[in-house]
Amino acid sequence: MTSNYGDRSLRSVAIVIAAAGRGERLGGELPKALEQVAGVSLLEYCVHVIAGMRGLGAVVVAAPDGYLADVEEICARLTKPGATVVAGGSTRTESVSNALAVMPDGIDIVLVHDAARAFTPVEQFLDVIAAVEAGADAVIPGLAVVDTIKEVDASGSVLRTVPRDSLRGVQTPQGFRRETLDAVHRDENVDGATDDAGMIEASGGLVKVIPGHPDAFKVTTPFDRLIALALVTSRSVQ
Ligand code: C5P
Repeated sequence: MTSNYGDRSLRSVAIVIAAAGRGERLGGELPKALEQVAGVSLLEYCVHVIAGMRGLGAVVVAAPDGYLADVEEICARLTKPGATVVAGGSTRTESVSNALAVMPDGIDIVLVHDAARAFTPVEQFLDVIAAVEAGADAVIPGLAVVDTIKEVDASGSVLRTVPRDSLRGVQTPQGFRRETLDAVHRDENVDGATDDAGMIEASGGLVKVIPGHPDAFKVTTPFDRLIALALVTSRSVQ
């Protein structure tokens, strides 16, 4: 049965989960997506949220080198119908390209999501889908920057203070019309971006930022793991 969110069917929407990073800054023994918070891996938290969006056209997960079977086991246990698992690449862009290569027909909108943003609320996925449907080439959630931002030179001397009113720290999922995302991934002149929206920018496309959510933070450092534990604990007592 296809569930509707509002009057929106998700049958033509796919989600790519980029889960193939090594996660060296987190300092664990496993790739970051398989590191645990309160006994559950980041990938399991992430897949659990997405599995709640019933009726999706496809879910494709890019797995870390050497951990394909572990990721397949998690997806088989938590997703119905099952997610497709592909080998990740040496960069995030390569991992996403590998996932796009197995995308089935009938998908019009692709969301690319970091497994490391494991606590992103489902509403953020739905907001991104709605904004892509409203017509942007690319949609990314973002939050206002709270710190004062300085640009520095190689010696650490401040060059200038960057006005922060117009700055956003961006999150995932990043949403795209499928043909737009496929086109930038095929274009050999577009590279060097750390995210897919950056590739759209580089190709001259319009990228729209919508409000993000604090829970969609990226688990990157040991400190983030403490925040994640606090979040999981507070959710379980509500
Ligand atoms: O390294 P960083 O934290 O920016 O990675 C963001 C997301 O991209 C993570 O979820 C990570 O697993 C994923 N990634 C990937 N393939 C890579 C590198 C990162 O799927 N080669």
